Amino acid sequence: MTEFALEAMGGLWSKRLDKRRAGTEDIHWDEIAREATPDLVVAAREVWTRSAFSEYASGAAFAQIATHMLAARAPIDLIAAAGDFVGDEMFHAELASRVAMSLGGALSLEVNFEKLVRPPEGEGALLRAAELVVRSCCVGESLTVPILKQSRRAAGSRTIEAVISRILRDEAQHSELGWWFLDWAALTDTDRAHLATVAGTTIRSFSVLFGRECAANEGLGTLPCASFDGTFLDAVSHDVVEPLAKRGIVVAEADIEDLRSAVATTAE
Ligand SMILES: [Fe+2]
Ligand SMILES: [Fe+2]
Repeated sequence: MTEFALEAMGGLWSKRLDKRRAGTEDIHWDEIAREATPDLVVAAREVWTRSAFSEYASGAAFAQIATHMLAARAPIDLIAAAGDFVGDEMFHAELASRVAMSLGGALSLEVNFEKLVRPPEGEGALLRAAELVVRSCCVGESLTVPILKQSRRAAGSRTIEAVISRILRDEAQHSELGWWFLDWAALTDTDRAHLATVAGTTIRSFSVLFGRECAANEGLGTLPCASFDGTFLDAVSHDVVEPLAKRGIVVAEADIEDLRSAVATTAE
């Protein structure tokens, strides 16, 4: 394990990110500290440190997706989008770490940079690419959207709302890539059964997140456990389970049940 830290080279390499930075010039970073209520600052620093890391890990996922799509001879514009999303995620990591810095600095986080993405286990290049796409795009990115929207509603800080809005602008396309890939891929029934297990396991992993990353209070981007409503579970049904089922990938009810009870516990 290594302490999580980010480094940027600057110069012409930083300029390449400027296209993505457009619109963030209006964010007044020094306002965050003024808007922050002291009781929330430590929890928020932790949440934004974890977010910076999960954005970094999403970048690793898209790099793997691009690599596996290349091996699967996916349409070149889909591959290009997956590659481009690595850039989006590095920019999100930059935004999240700027929030953490503006709140007083990142908290120490030990991570394993060599295990950012669990290698896919399916047979053949196409199924391995589909496995990564289901995990990261169809489930992960689709469920990130309602979590971010909920955090934005409860942020209580204009600056943090602006940061979350900027991140949200990219996330819809990140999930969309998954559906387009599945519609293109010629999958067998055995492939679909494997992908249903993969999706179910990924959905279950979100219940762990509720147990670990839920804050007691809400605001500044922390997950508001107490006020967490049905939005998230609706998203599981409408944005993940239903579109997967439409494509013949049927997630087991037991996998969804686990998540339902985790959300119910946090809402109590
Ligand atoms: Fe992101
Ligand atoms: Fe993303």
